[in-house]
Amino acid sequence: MQVVQGKRLAELPAWTLGELRRRAVRVIVDVGTGDARAAYRLAKAHPDWLVIGIDPAWQRMAPTSVRGSRKPARGGTPNLVLVNASIEAVPADLHNLADEVLVLMPWGKLLRGIAHGERDVCAGLRAVATPGASLHVIVGTSIWRDPVPLEIRGLPELTSCYVDRVLAGRLAAVGWQVTMSELITGADTPGLSSSWARRLGSATPETMIHIAAVATTLRPGECADR
Ligand SMILES: C[S@@+](CC[C@H](N)C(=O)[O-])C[C@H]1O[C@@H](n2cnc3c(N)ncnc32)[C@H](O)[C@@H]1O
Repeated sequence: MQVVQGKRLAELPAWTLGELRRRAVRVIVDVGTGDARAAYRLAKAHPDWLVIGIDPAWQRMAPTSVRGSRKPARGGTPNLVLVNASIEAVPADLHNLADEVLVLMPWGKLLRGIAHGERDVCAGLRAVATPGASLHVIVGTSIWRDPVPLEIRGLPELTSCYVDRVLAGRLAAVGWQVTMSELITGADTPGLSSSWARRLGSATPETMIHIAAVATTLRPGECADR
């Protein structure tokens, strides 16, 4: 598996990841982690957790990786792993690992895959989760207001009604049971501390939709693989 180590990419042996997993009391996987600052803050606040950030735009994670590779007393986070991957092609080493999967302010393929309930993206999210794991997706709703960015024109707006009527069924098909969808503001998400939510929140009190789901046990024959 390819991880960001300082300013470059390196291979992380499966046994090293296994050792980090063995020592951790909880595993969080932050998909589309961006600059990975939110993942870093989680890892720093919970040294006994393993926090894994995934993003195909690996250069954006490099400054956080440099910071995390220092000694713990100087801000280092040995419990933070930053993986260069897309969720639809997530490395097998990350399968069946997470107690909690986060998707904060997704964009691009990740946002499209979630909004349409595309099998490759949603099954990728399920593949990293253990049965019973929770999924939290948070998307700012202002992206659907004029002027709507070209990239997301035609994308169905994530509303609670759309989640209930359309998305819940598509998520259920790959092993996610939707438990809740609600509108929240930045003030309701202090624990998530997403860089993007904060950036948006500084300009406008951004309203976001929060979709929560639980990973169901897959029966033999069912498969969360893409
Ligand atoms: C708007 S940024 C949000 C970053 C971060 N979650 C935050 O809240 O600060 C969206 C991120 O999703 C990532 N992304 C897009 N498609 C992806 C995919 N298929 N798999 C994983 N990450 C993806 C992008 O590279 C980008 O870094």
